[in-house]
Amino acid sequence: MKLYLDTANIGEIKEIAQWGVLDGVTTNPSLMSREKGDYREILKEICDIVKGPVSAEVLSPNSADMVKEAKDLSKISEHIVIKIPCTIDGLKATNILSQEKIRVNMTLIFSANQAILAAKAGASYISPFVGRLDDIANPGIEVIKDILDILNNYNFPSRLIFASVRHPEHVRQAAILGAHIVTMPYRVFSSMIKHPLTDIGIERFLNDWEKR
Ligand code: E4P
Repeated sequence: MKLYLDTANIGEIKEIAQWGVLDGVTTNPSLMSREKGDYREILKEICDIVKGPVSAEVLSPNSADMVKEAKDLSKISEHIVIKIPCTIDGLKATNILSQEKIRVNMTLIFSANQAILAAKAGASYISPFVGRLDDIANPGIEVIKDILDILNNYNFPSRLIFASVRHPEHVRQAAILGAHIVTMPYRVFSSMIKHPLTDIGIERFLNDWEKR
């Protein structure tokens, strides 16, 4: 199971990388917009820290411009993966890029049918947004189950990224279901380590030691 951080914040990435548990990073235009500095330089710095897949999203709506943008972003580092929204233009661009061995993370996926098309078009990664489905009372976990079955049924090489993670329970569910990758915000990474009994246990051990 791979764990990715869903952020463009260098401080957060450096911190989780030090834990020895960080396999990759996903960014998106909203996350990038929160950071100060040059877009490409930030991406380069992220790649240098992570040394694993770093998703950078295209902004163009049409396939020709998506491909152009993707090729330009790919020059930043060998670790860049191109994030492309799941649209008809997105599929066309993914088809072209996958033939040129440029890895695509097809994003904004909300249904099994979208995932089938993304896998067929050659996306290396497929990102269903679980939290945003949950937000509209449409259980995201069911979509994850369907997509994992479909990828397994046909041996598609695409890897599923469980995205739009809202809380640590999503991470547990992803792991039980066998999601290949989970991408989560820093806040969720941090809450995974926390348990009140761990804190109480440390305190009790130290108190007993003081009393010796
Ligand atoms: C994934 O790649 C996306 O960047 C992300 O998970 C979106 O999550 P949100 O719904 O919390 O914005």
